[in-house]
Amino acid sequence: MSLPHAPQGDLTRFISRDPYRAVSRVADRLGADAFRGKLMLGDTVFLTGPEKAQLFYSDDMMRNGAAPWFLRETLFGRGGVQSLDREEHRRRKALFLGLMTRNVPAQLAAAFSEELDRLAEARPGRVVVQDEMIRLLTRVACTWAGVPDSRSATHAGMLSDLFEHAAPLNWAFVKGVTARRKANAWAGELVSNTRAGKIRPPRGSALDEIAGYRTAQGDPLGREVAAVELLNVIRPVIAVSAFLTFTAHALATHERARAAAEEAPENLVQEVRRTAPFFPMLAARTARDIEIEGDAVAAGTRVILDIYGTNRDARVWDDPYMFRPSRFQDRDIGPYDLIAQGGGDHASGHRCPGEWITIALMRAFTEWTTRIDYIRPRQDLHFEMQTLPALPSSRMIWTDLRPASV
Ligand code: HEM
Repeated sequence: MSLPHAPQGDLTRFISRDPYRAVSRVADRLGADAFRGKLMLGDTVFLTGPEKAQLFYSDDMMRNGAAPWFLRETLFGRGGVQSLDREEHRRRKALFLGLMTRNVPAQLAAAFSEELDRLAEARPGRVVVQDEMIRLLTRVACTWAGVPDSRSATHAGMLSDLFEHAAPLNWAFVKGVTARRKANAWAGELVSNTRAGKIRPPRGSALDEIAGYRTAQGDPLGREVAAVELLNVIRPVIAVSAFLTFTAHALATHERARAAAEEAPENLVQEVRRTAPFFPMLAARTARDIEIEGDAVAAGTRVILDIYGTNRDARVWDDPYMFRPSRFQDRDIGPYDLIAQGGGDHASGHRCPGEWITIALMRAFTEWTTRIDYIRPRQDLHFEMQTLPALPSSRMIWTDLRPASV
């Protein structure tokens, strides 16, 4: 058996024109959940669906050198946990999981709820949900991470540019690259100052733990890698803003979302995570010569896992294109079914360690929307499917925001 080939050959342009749907469109056309093609001129195997996601998270794959160059210049930085494999990865990953102890999601959600209630009390005239949530979450993230700067919200633009302009899809990519340079310098200085005893972040905070982390050889992380890891904690908390904007969009466009916000907020959170166009795909390389569906795939071949399509795989999800929060009622979510934040095991694999925090913050936001009133003026609600994340054009505008009248 050999894997089918994408009729387009090199998929680079096809993917940059439609990054979320490209892989599953080819897979559907070929009637296969694994196929060969080229990406940026390199031989690539594309995978979609839960079964192939399991392969993607197996020991047959590695991450070192797998991420495309532009993500290292923006979103990820260099030398962070995303690029590690095997024992070195497991050890570094434990650092992150250690920061997410049981009560952390609830603490962050409580801090965020307070910020949200203050926002409503202040009765701002007009709010752009995405921008306002970036501002609030920057404060929540920096405080939690132990950053001793009460004006941390001034860094909101720099930190959000890291994830809003991560791919070279348009000119704004320059903003992402500039933000990475500035953010590394900022976070690197925080680490150096902590190590020099000039600042004393709370014990157990991300800044404290990362500054004090030792490798298996007993060495501290280099300043730049430590900066990258500190940003790996702060940046994605701020990126939850996108999921909140997608939640606001769902509330604006689906009656079922409004009902779920009142009756089963957790279900709404999961349905937004399943359907939101956030990360389209993930990249790895084969760690050795392997066979996929009986076809020999050489060591070092790039492998792409389709997140967007897997979250809509009809073998797992009934009516996958329907927005239906109730599908999560009494349903166990398998480790490779809903992979908005990666799949498999958190400790041994690359699955996102911030999943519990993300869910807690989304739930706090969802519950808050039931305690407020606002007007949603006419606006462009289309998702910008060529940007990452594919936010609604208007970034969700609300006016007359206030606490709900009782
Ligand atoms: C906005 C919501 C979030 C989304 C959509 C998201 C998505 C993802 C995805 C797709 C991965 C890659 C999984 C893989 O490579 O297999 C990942 C990894 C990661 N995420 Fe998140 N994440 C979010 C929130 C968070 C939060 C709140 C944190 C920390 C506070 C976090 C920290 C990380 C780290 C450190 C990794 C690398 C893990 C590893 O390589 O082992 N993320 N995330």
